[in-house]
Amino acid sequence: MLFRRFASTSCLPPTIHQLLRSETTSPSSIQVNGWVRSVRRQKKVAFAAVTDGSSSHDLQAVFLNTDLAKRLTNGCSVRLTGKLCTSPGAGQAKELQVEEAEVVGECDPELYPIQKQTLSVEYLRDNCHLRARTSPVAAMLRLRDTFKTAIHEFFKREGFHSVHTPILTSNDCEGAGEAFRVAPLTSVHPASSGLPPKTEEFFSNPSYLTVSSQLHLEALAAAMSRVYTLSPCFRAEPSQTARHLAEFWMLEAEWAFTQSVDDVCRVVEAATKEVLQAALASQDMEVFAKDFDPSRLEALKSAADASRAWPRMSYTMAVEKLTKSGVAFQFAPEWGKPLQSEHERWLAEILIGGPVFVTDYPASLKPFYMRANPDGETAACFDLLVPHAGELVGGSLREERLDLLEKAMERHGLDADTYRWYLDLRKWGGAPHGGFGMGFERLVSWISGIENVRECIPMPRWAGRMLL
Ligand code: 4AD
Repeated sequence: MLFRRFASTSCLPPTIHQLLRSETTSPSSIQVNGWVRSVRRQKKVAFAAVTDGSSSHDLQAVFLNTDLAKRLTNGCSVRLTGKLCTSPGAGQAKELQVEEAEVVGECDPELYPIQKQTLSVEYLRDNCHLRARTSPVAAMLRLRDTFKTAIHEFFKREGFHSVHTPILTSNDCEGAGEAFRVAPLTSVHPASSGLPPKTEEFFSNPSYLTVSSQLHLEALAAAMSRVYTLSPCFRAEPSQTARHLAEFWMLEAEWAFTQSVDDVCRVVEAATKEVLQAALASQDMEVFAKDFDPSRLEALKSAADASRAWPRMSYTMAVEKLTKSGVAFQFAPEWGKPLQSEHERWLAEILIGGPVFVTDYPASLKPFYMRANPDGETAACFDLLVPHAGELVGGSLREERLDLLEKAMERHGLDADTYRWYLDLRKWGGAPHGGFGMGFERLVSWISGIENVRECIPMPRWAGRMLL
C-alpha cells in the first residue's frame, strides 16, 4: 500500500482530509477507513459518501462493480481499497475508485438514530453520543481544535507557558456561591482499613470543583511570569440560557509586571484576533458561514482586522449610552447595577456592531481580588462584549497591595486562613499583575454562529441534564 506520498512522516494511513488536500492522485491502491454517510445505487454504478470526521468534505467512493457496494448502509464502518483519481463530477476534486470493500461494523439503516433528514437540536442532544456523526457537530469539533491551536501558537509566541492547575480546590474564586462541593461516594475509611467508617471531608477541609483557575495561575505567574491554561471549569449555575453551562472550558492567562487594564485588553484582543483569522481561513467555517446573513461574515472579518483596534468604554459611559438609547429594556440600566445580557447585546450589536471592552465596573459588583482604582469606587477590570454571545471575557488587574487585599477579603466575608497562601504571594516579592478568562464555548458560539453553547461542546452539562 502506498501511503508515503500523502504523509511521509506519518505512522498512520492518511485521513480523508489528507487525501483530499494532497496534490497527487495515486497510481497504486490506497486504503481508506471511515463511515458511510449515504449510498446511491444506479444500474451500473454505485456511489458512497464516506467520512472519517477529518474533513468537512466527504470522500466520494465510486463502485463500478456494484456488488462491492451491496452490504453498504448509512452509518456502517468500512475499509475501502482503491485508486484515488481525479473526479469528473462537479464539486469535488477527487474520488476513490473502489476495488475492495469490507464492512467493518454493520449499521441497521432502519434503526440508525442518525438519519439523513435534518434532525432537531433537541433530538441530537438526546443522542449526543452519536451527534458528532453529523457534519455540523463534527465541523464544530474541528473548529474547537483550530481555535486551540491558534491560542497555543499565540501564547507560545508571546513567551507564555501552558500550565496545569488543579480541578479540586478549597476556594470559590468568584465568590458567587456557584461551586460544586466534592464528597466521596463511600466512607473515607474503607472496611479493609479496620478503622470505623468515617464520612467526613476526604480532605481536611471542604473541597470544590474549580470555578476558575485564576488564583492558582496567579501563584504560578508569581514565579513563571507569563502563564495560561485552557481548562474545564464548573459552575452550579441554574440559568437555562443559551450562554451558560455547568461544565465549560475557560482560557485563562495571567502575567506579572503588567500595569494597566489597557495592557490586558491588548493581549485579549490580539489573541482573539488570531483565533478569528484562523477560523476565517478554515474550511470548517464554510459549513457555518453559508447560512450567515452577509453582514455577519463582514462583521467577523472586520473584528479580525489587526489594523483596527476594538473600541473601549468605561462602565459609566456604557450606562450613560444605555440610558440615553431610548430602548425600553426589561431592566432599566442604572449605575451600580450589573449590566444585563440585553444591555450587553445592545452595546455590542447595536451601538458598536462588534466587540467592545467595557472597563472600570463598580468594585461592589466584582470579586475580591480585583485591583481598586484610585477613585475608591471602581475596579481596574473589564468585560469584553461581543455580538450574539454577550460577555465573552472577564479580566482585571489583581490587587497586589497586601493591606488593600486584606480589607477587600474582609468586606467579602472571606476567611483569611483559607487564603493565607494567596496573601503570601503579595508578601514575598509581589508584583503588579493581571489576567483574564475567556469562555471557550462562547467563543465558538460567537464565531460559528451556533446559537446555544450546548451545541458548542461535545457533551453538554447544564442544570437538570447530564446524559452520559
Ligand atoms: O467572568 P468570569 O466569571 O471570570 C472569572 O472566572 C475570572 N476568574 C477569570 C480570570 O480573570 N481568570 O468568567 C470568565 C468567562 C466569562 O466571560 C464567560 O465567557 C465564561 O467565562 N463563563 C461561562 N461560560 C459558559 N457557562 C458558564 N456558566 C460560564 N460562566 C462564565
